[in-house]
Amino acid sequence: MKIVFATHNLHKAEEAQKILGADYQVVNLHDLQCPEIPETAQTLEGNAVQKAQFVLERYHCDCFADDTGLEIEALDNRPGVYSARYAGENCSFEDNVNKVLQEMQGITNRKACFKTVICLLLNGEKHLFEGRVDGIITETRHGENGFGYDPIFLPDGFTQTFAEMDADTKNHISHRGRAMQKLIAFLKNKTK
Ligand code: IMP
Repeated sequence: MKIVFATHNLHKAEEAQKILGADYQVVNLHDLQCPEIPETAQTLEGNAVQKAQFVLERYHCDCFADDTGLEIEALDNRPGVYSARYAGENCSFEDNVNKVLQEMQGITNRKACFKTVICLLLNGEKHLFEGRVDGIITETRHGENGFGYDPIFLPDGFTQTFAEMDADTKNHISHRGRAMQKLIAFLKNKTK
């Protein structure tokens, strides 16, 4: 079965293909030569739905889209839906991490969580799947793997940040991994 993942991020598309296995052919937005899709909603769910609907209207095919945010309790759940551009338009992952570390200086409550929402549009019907992982924001960076806020996120029950873990360990417990597992369970059940 062919299914479009509404992402230009090849790393995420590859990860999805690996999890979904040979029964599915994951097509990404580069394959479709699709332009950048606007993400103007105020919630993760809103953005995931917006991206999936864009693909459905343009290409008339089953698809799914995801959106992720890091919510930090002491920062009133910022950066949240603005995680990608927290330090400003065209900022780097490093700029975002610097901004969070600066804002968290001297703060003892370091609780945070990553949340992912996936929107699947299958045969014109909408289905939502959520994944979450709780942890803390470290005082300094640790590790070189991964991307985004990985070097400063220590998941509960672990002694390594996401950036110190290998990809398989992170994917197993991560927000996106958990949301993907729910999506896969649903798809496998549907196509049984
Ligand atoms: P997206 O919705 O997957 O594009 O994620 C939005 C932003 O959240 C990214 O630009 C990253 O800054 C951050 N982010 C998403 N997933 C992760 C992750 O697994 N680790 C660290 N940061 C992430």
